[in-house]
Amino acid sequence: MEENERLMSSTEVVGDEEESIRPGSLDEYIGQDSLKENLRIYIQAALQRNESLDHVLLYGPPGLGKTTLSYILSHEMHTNIKIITGPSISKPGDLASVLSTLDAGDILFIDEIHRLPKVVEEVLYPAMEDFEMDVMVGGENGQGGRSVRLPLPPFTLVGATTRAGDLSSPLRDRFGIISKLEYYNEAQLSAIIARSSRVLGVSIDEDAIIEIAKRSRGTPRIANRLLRRIRDFAQVLNNGVISKAIVDDALVRLHVDSLGLDEVDIRYLRGIIERFHGGPVGLEALANSISEETTTLEDVYEPYLIQIGFVNRTSRGRVVTEKAYKHLGIHHPETLF
Ligand SMILES: Nc1ncnc2c1ncn2[C@@H]1O[C@H](COP(=O)(O)OP(=O)(O)OP(=O)(O)O)[C@@H](O)[C@H]1O
Ligand SMILES: [Mg+2]
Repeated sequence: MEENERLMSSTEVVGDEEESIRPGSLDEYIGQDSLKENLRIYIQAALQRNESLDHVLLYGPPGLGKTTLSYILSHEMHTNIKIITGPSISKPGDLASVLSTLDAGDILFIDEIHRLPKVVEEVLYPAMEDFEMDVMVGGENGQGGRSVRLPLPPFTLVGATTRAGDLSSPLRDRFGIISKLEYYNEAQLSAIIARSSRVLGVSIDEDAIIEIAKRSRGTPRIANRLLRRIRDFAQVLNNGVISKAIVDDALVRLHVDSLGLDEVDIRYLRGIIERFHGGPVGLEALANSISEETTTLEDVYEPYLIQIGFVNRTSRGRVVTEKAYKHLGIHHPETLF
């Protein structure tokens, strides 16, 4: 359970060989085509004008490639990238000291930007808009000092968030480029798995690639993680070759079902069906009944279940669809007669 949760979770696990598989340029970045083509234009235009790229906000469920894309932006713009996360910056001074280390054209990547405290966020407004920041000088313990405005070099803020709705509008309005990352289709995931296999040096059959793609919840991070686990089974049981049979066998052992749903997805669906007659049920009540955090359900699990048409979010709460009943092999009440 513990291991399986980690396996299917689309959240990042440190030291997971993830770095070596990360694509390094826009050409290697698979999918997200319209976003990618627009970025190509913006990058070329900024380079031609010798300017920094406009601020970019990337949003979407975890594991779809926001961090990867921000590294790529710095690569394509030939600049450095500094990386911080929203919750790690608690005071305005912390952000000011990060800002003061930036060089012209640098990218400042703020992950989970929706979790920046409001007082810190306010430092960003003049920084983003006019490349200036206010710092307090003199005084003691925050008393009696005065604020001076210091210039900053032109830089690009790249913000990433799983919940764009939680951003305040003054912050959101200061991004020139706002893009949503979409779940990947089977062909795109197949291309990602084929590429990762090449990087890792494993041999894998075409039908095995497709099977892993089908079970990756539209998410590159999950595809890569499944690939690495299945590689272990292939190494021990099949001379290192990943065949379709090895994939099927490994995924049974790992409790990943035919659509890539894991135990939390199943508990979510069964929870609504068995305890709330299929819904509608409020998120809070459901989360309590299956002992999960509301934000985890909302950010990680629901987007995919909604995407594949298993759950509808109505004004009265969550409802499980007939399609989900069918997948679970449970009779839908309305189709009983
Ligand atoms: N478009 C892509 N093409 C190829 N590989 C990708 C792509 N997007 C993501 N990946 C792979 O998936 C992994 C996860 O991507 P990344 O860390 O960028 O996700 P993220 O959106 O930042 O997630 P989080 O919200 O959890 O921070 C990366 O290590 C990378 O190898
Ligand atoms: Mg990330």
